[in-house]
Amino acid sequence: MGFSTDCIHAGQEPDPTTGAIITPIYQTSTYVQEGIGSHKGYEYARTQNPTRRALERNLAALEGGSDAYCYASGMAATNAVLSLVKAGQRVVVSDNVYGGTHRLFTKILTQYGLEFAFIDASDAAALERQAGDFQLLWIETPTNPLMKVCDIAALAEVAHGRGSLLVVDNTFMSPYFQRPLSLGADIVVHSTTKFLNGHSDSIGGVAVVKAQAHAEWLQFVQNAAGAILSPFDAWLVLRGTKTLALRMPRHEANGRLVATFLRQHAKVRRTHWPGFPDHPGHEVQKRQATGFGALISFDLGGRDAADRLLRSVRLCSLGESLGGVETLISHPASMTHAGYTQAERDALGIVDGLVRISVGCEDADDIVADLKQALDRV
Ligand SMILES: Cc1ncc(COP(=O)(O)O)c(C=O)c1O
Repeated sequence: MGFSTDCIHAGQEPDPTTGAIITPIYQTSTYVQEGIGSHKGYEYARTQNPTRRALERNLAALEGGSDAYCYASGMAATNAVLSLVKAGQRVVVSDNVYGGTHRLFTKILTQYGLEFAFIDASDAAALERQAGDFQLLWIETPTNPLMKVCDIAALAEVAHGRGSLLVVDNTFMSPYFQRPLSLGADIVVHSTTKFLNGHSDSIGGVAVVKAQAHAEWLQFVQNAAGAILSPFDAWLVLRGTKTLALRMPRHEANGRLVATFLRQHAKVRRTHWPGFPDHPGHEVQKRQATGFGALISFDLGGRDAADRLLRSVRLCSLGESLGGVETLISHPASMTHAGYTQAERDALGIVDGLVRISVGCEDADDIVADLKQALDRV
């Protein structure tokens, strides 16, 4: 089936009890069994839930995986995937990942003997030279918040050459624009909180896998560690993915107009968006994805200027998160990337004047007019 058809139908059958076309919210903690070891395939709702399972099948189809497992948040999904790595093993991470991912890796998982090396993954050959031995390579592309593009196929080759897995956090692109498993990645992770749900009303995460061994382990972790997605949140995300193929082109068309406006504005020093032909990752992005997305970051030259802009916007809402139909605007240095030290942010170029915008689905003219009036106050 085509992508839009899968968005709407994959993983979902009319409800066997009533024929309801929409998968019900199975809000139950347990299931009545007929006798010892005799039941309908459902024993306890941490282990199995039909609403969650429908979403998992849906997301597996959209990413082209063999299966998928949903967790209580993107961070819980990330944590579950990292349990594939054992004490003493090394993980290489693209250097400007979401701050929460950096925090989980450096502040918690290092306590269990995992080693992390943060390396610029936008140059696969340089990463190969610098990385040493590792068991898992974790990337985001485009990166958060500087929108550097990493070549998924080249990095899959590097990872597999070391006997390592490649995991791609595909939250920024969604499977509408980019399907990392088809480019050689082993596992795809999403914060479903973002474009997949799309309506800023649920927190969740998913890991989509190819290999049976990974499916078995991630299902085991779901049950054993218990950070599962609730049935209501699963239902919200299922509802969200039905319109993914309608929302993403609108996000991107608006993103292009906003990026173009920002780039020519006298008060904006630099605009990061991979859709510009002179963006260093533009050609790779064109090759590995079908679009450039709606995440843009731009430098206003200092924290005061960023603060004045963020206090002046009216339609664009100042808030953490991205990927909703509403335009959200944020300050990475003090919000999403506050977990990095100042020195780490300086080294990466996450300067105090940097603002990130997740362009929504409103009328583009209204978003641009709002940014224009706010920039007048900077
Ligand atoms: C790229 C990316 N990955 C993962 C996460 C974590 O997801 P969650 O907030 O659902 O735990 C985020 C959150 O902002 C993110 O932007």
